[in-house]
Amino acid sequence: MNAVADTAFLAAGFRARESSRPDALFHDPLAARLAGETGRAMVEKVAHLGEAAGWSTVLRTVLIDRFIEEAVAQGTQTLINLGAGLDTRPYRMAVPPSLAWVEVDQAPVIAHKSEVLANETPRCRLERVPLDLLDTASRRQLLSRVSKGPSPGMVLAEGLLPYLTENDVVGLLDDLRDHEAFQGLIVDYFAPEVMRARNAMPGRMRVTAAAMKFAPDDWQGFFAAHGWKVKEMRDLAAEGDRRGRPYVIPEAMRAMLQQGKDIPQRQPPGMFAAYALMERA
Ligand SMILES: C[S@@+](CC[C@H](N)C(=O)[O-])C[C@H]1O[C@@H](n2cnc3c(N)ncnc32)[C@H](O)[C@@H]1O
Repeated sequence: MNAVADTAFLAAGFRARESSRPDALFHDPLAARLAGETGRAMVEKVAHLGEAAGWSTVLRTVLIDRFIEEAVAQGTQTLINLGAGLDTRPYRMAVPPSLAWVEVDQAPVIAHKSEVLANETPRCRLERVPLDLLDTASRRQLLSRVSKGPSPGMVLAEGLLPYLTENDVVGLLDDLRDHEAFQGLIVDYFAPEVMRARNAMPGRMRVTAAAMKFAPDDWQGFFAAHGWKVKEMRDLAAEGDRRGRPYVIPEAMRAMLQQGKDIPQRQPPGMFAAYALMERA
């Protein structure tokens, strides 16, 4: 599998680790099986980063679970998860059986997931689609088909956009905007300086190897130009503080900070990482 697909195993590994903590913020009982030895070894490899490793994956799981609970309570009928990776929400969340849930990811990730979960029963109507989201024709065909299903629909892109180029994101946002059925979109927000600093870090300080590309300077303006505006933003660090999981800077990174390298400091009131619920502009 490629470096971006690997990130799916690492995310599942972090969810498995979290699920085994006595103070777990959620339980994902299928995560360990999905992560397998690959995901477990990847988590082990970044153990030297301490609490910082997996911090954002764990807190984003908490924040996005809540966005989805709220969307479903407000009538969402279809949820399409783009770059679904090894996420197991259709199995672990209390969603209505009538909810149509569509998971999209690269073929090898989908094949692995389908094999591991063959004997598990999702709580809603689940469909899995192997597809390269950068293949414009196939993507359009899929979005057009899904948009004709029960509506309103919500689109989830968790940990996907950072790995795409601005051009790729434009294509995706424009295609989503073309379908009125997609009323909401959940995406990651990282401040551009966080992305720059992350990409400049030496390999051993990074949690994942894959390059993060999508970091427009005017994030909101970028989305607005392609049909989407912020409905609500939930700050990862604030959620961490509320949940007793503040961000703890790894020791090695602290040393770099002290040398005044280009590593972002937390500067209130700006957010450095958040999850955003977008609505049609
Ligand atoms: C960081 S993982 C996140 C997975 C999942 N959303 C989660 O939070 O656990 C990124 C996912 O995006 C998928 N992905 C990246 N580029 C893709 C593309 N062009 N087409 C389909 N999936 C893609 C990867 O295979 C991977 O599963």
